[in-house]
Amino acid sequence: MNRLLALAFLTLSLAASVRAAPLRETLSLDEGWRFHLGDIRRESFPGGQGVNLYGPDITYHGAKAGSAWGAAARGYDDSGWKRVDLPHDWVVEQPFDEKALKQQGYRPRGIGWYRRTFKLSPADRGKNLELQLDGAATHATVYFNGSEVQHNWSGYSSMYVNLTPMARYGDDINTIAVRVDAADTEGWWYEGGGLYRHTWLVKRSPLHIATDGVHANPVKAADGQWVIPAEVTLANTGPEVASARVEVAVFDAAGQRVAGGSSAAVSVVPQGEALAKLTVRVAAPRLWSIDAPNLYTVRTTVLRDGKPVDAVDTTVGFRTIRFDAKQGFLLNGQPLKLKGTSNHQDHAGVGVAMPDSLWEFRLRKLKEMGSNAYRTAHNPPAKELLDAADRLGMLVMDETRHFNASTEYLQQLRWLVRRDRNHPSVILWSLFNEEGLQGTEEGMEMARVMNAVVKQLDATRPTTGAQNKGHLGPDGKANPKNAAQVLDVVGINYEADLYDKIRAAYPDKPIVSTEDTSQVMTRGEYATDWKQVVASYDEVFPGWAATSSARNSWEAIMKQTSFAGGFSWTGFAYRGEPTPYGWPSASSHFGALDLCGFPKTEFYVRQAMFVKDRPVLTLVPHWNWQGKEGQNIKVLAATNADTVALSLNGRLVEEKKVHPFQMVDWQVPYAPGRLEAVAKKDGREVARYAVETTGSPVALRLTPDRDSLAGDGRDAAPVTVEAVDAQGRPVPNANLAVELEVSGPGANIGVGNGDPNSHDPEKGDKVRIYNGLAQVILQSRRAGSGELVLRATAAGLQPAQASIKVRAVPALAAVPVLAP
Ligand code: GAL
Repeated sequence: MNRLLALAFLTLSLAASVRAAPLRETLSLDEGWRFHLGDIRRESFPGGQGVNLYGPDITYHGAKAGSAWGAAARGYDDSGWKRVDLPHDWVVEQPFDEKALKQQGYRPRGIGWYRRTFKLSPADRGKNLELQLDGAATHATVYFNGSEVQHNWSGYSSMYVNLTPMARYGDDINTIAVRVDAADTEGWWYEGGGLYRHTWLVKRSPLHIATDGVHANPVKAADGQWVIPAEVTLANTGPEVASARVEVAVFDAAGQRVAGGSSAAVSVVPQGEALAKLTVRVAAPRLWSIDAPNLYTVRTTVLRDGKPVDAVDTTVGFRTIRFDAKQGFLLNGQPLKLKGTSNHQDHAGVGVAMPDSLWEFRLRKLKEMGSNAYRTAHNPPAKELLDAADRLGMLVMDETRHFNASTEYLQQLRWLVRRDRNHPSVILWSLFNEEGLQGTEEGMEMARVMNAVVKQLDATRPTTGAQNKGHLGPDGKANPKNAAQVLDVVGINYEADLYDKIRAAYPDKPIVSTEDTSQVMTRGEYATDWKQVVASYDEVFPGWAATSSARNSWEAIMKQTSFAGGFSWTGFAYRGEPTPYGWPSASSHFGALDLCGFPKTEFYVRQAMFVKDRPVLTLVPHWNWQGKEGQNIKVLAATNADTVALSLNGRLVEEKKVHPFQMVDWQVPYAPGRLEAVAKKDGREVARYAVETTGSPVALRLTPDRDSLAGDGRDAAPVTVEAVDAQGRPVPNANLAVELEVSGPGANIGVGNGDPNSHDPEKGDKVRIYNGLAQVILQSRRAGSGELVLRATAAGLQPAQASIKVRAVPALAAVPVLAP
């Protein structure tokens, strides 16, 4: 986005032959916060440090603007607090505790305080100043210079705070204080705690484009021409009525201006907003699709007296979407099954404090599985996830957190739609998940209100609700009073046994499986026992999942040819909701991939069912069954071929026909050696896959996901840690402790191994290889360049070393950190 902005400025300046001056500054505030875990009650600071008290009645004075007490006060001494950089999740740093909330992953949550100070130049006087907090888990109260300025009752929505009237300039110090209350929860999964997304200070002209104020989603008009019906919300925090025009220019990926236009003049009263509208035609754009995610940049410029005063770049894509009762989902006019996964937002080592690049890593893994759609269960995602989905070609079902039609919660819904409605990846708004009221008149009326609010802001995407009950009345016909009646797409969670009936009940409505499967398996385990592990054969599921396996779920969906597709539970494992066990399991055993993004059997099975354009063949399990010689081992081939011939040590076990959903399996008496599969399609060999019995581990191996990182203090990449035998083969059943050491321009920001029962710390220089795999996440240092080196050692094994090149890049514009 920043790069594109720079590009657009450059293009503008070249075209207009003027020196480009940035019209607004978007400065990162992530660096240099002070953090205190625990609450600071105002009673403990009767003097209200930093508060100017004139008399004995501190209650009177403390109730005044600018006079907040305690840790919220301007002059509060936070020099003893811990220094942290954002994104920050304090919960992931806590030890596991059986008494802590099970659904949140058995970790204490509590309350925390954050403070950040900064100076503003006298030249900033008169500008509009906005603080943006992209997400704070769970409830937050924000103070600025001793005044309470914002509450946020959802850990998933941003806060945009106008600081302008209360700002101080020159040597006078500005103070932001945020009390984050994570003692409360909003979900039944791990939600983390703290300022876990990015924070920004935006300086712009008093007459400016409001935050999320550009709506520039391209549409194909009835005449087949592409247009961008641009609507731009202008805001004025200056003292006078201001009049302006808005110009829109569209740039292709190469930075070429391909279209543009200008609005009529609009005038905006002080503290008011006004809408500028114009329509830009774009001739023959390259379409956005999941395979060719072509993006364009819409540059919106505000001109006052002909002079540009503010500009915003918005990434857009040209595509059509349609949900149809008979054909399911269509992208650019072509039917496309949504091969989707539902996902929460935490990753190994970092909790919910996700580096932006990990979103991309995760989406790449899902695409490798053949998935093309992502449901943000059950909350608005980080905007960086949507940016990555736009770039990589992943379709998104964007879900709001609260099913609530009251003023405050409708505001959260409006915020979500305004923020996300330009993303080509977003194809569907989900207004709830499994709500008690969904099958009632009350639920229907709430859904009707929420649907109308969405439609005011975005008429191009349909709405749905992830409904698990209440579609049908007692007579088996569509329940006349249920939320699905007033939403565009009928969403079904589970209930595969009712698919036919629900289809018949809503003949004219598109249908999608908003959630299904809930398959549980523990990566690398192949026998279910009561030590809290579940065999990875795609066979174990909780009662409500009814369809019993990823294979059955997808088969049931594919049988419904009119269904748009489905979103399985889940793509990635997540902390909390530790199904099917409780303590000591702290993470769920759900997920086609584990918490680190290491594939489980479900990944290979889905890949075999999803991928059509290349042969897929994988065998599970591994072939290290020392001590089980002669005993039958179940072997599953996940493949999209017609037949598979399995042989052990060169001797054919059996050639079998493959069921396109159920796959194929054998019982093979174990003998060490090489188990090999040959897959054929139309009688012709298309793929081979082998697993071999390995020797014991003799050395470690480190494999970075990427070989270079931007030296911006943000870019991060996972490194896989394995133990290999004397022939260099990874040992799949290795379980051993590893010590880590990092040198160079970066750091280890978290470790994990995908073991749902692990109580190991996720921060630090130790990690355990679990069933052959562990992960270390390395992040570059700000202004870093050179070799970032990770060394790993383990008792009795040869150590390993990996290096990632850190590239010098221009520093992210940021608000300088002051000493406490
Ligand atoms: C669903 C629910 C999800 C998760 C899942 C576990 O009913 O929507 O959030 O709880 O069950 O199987």
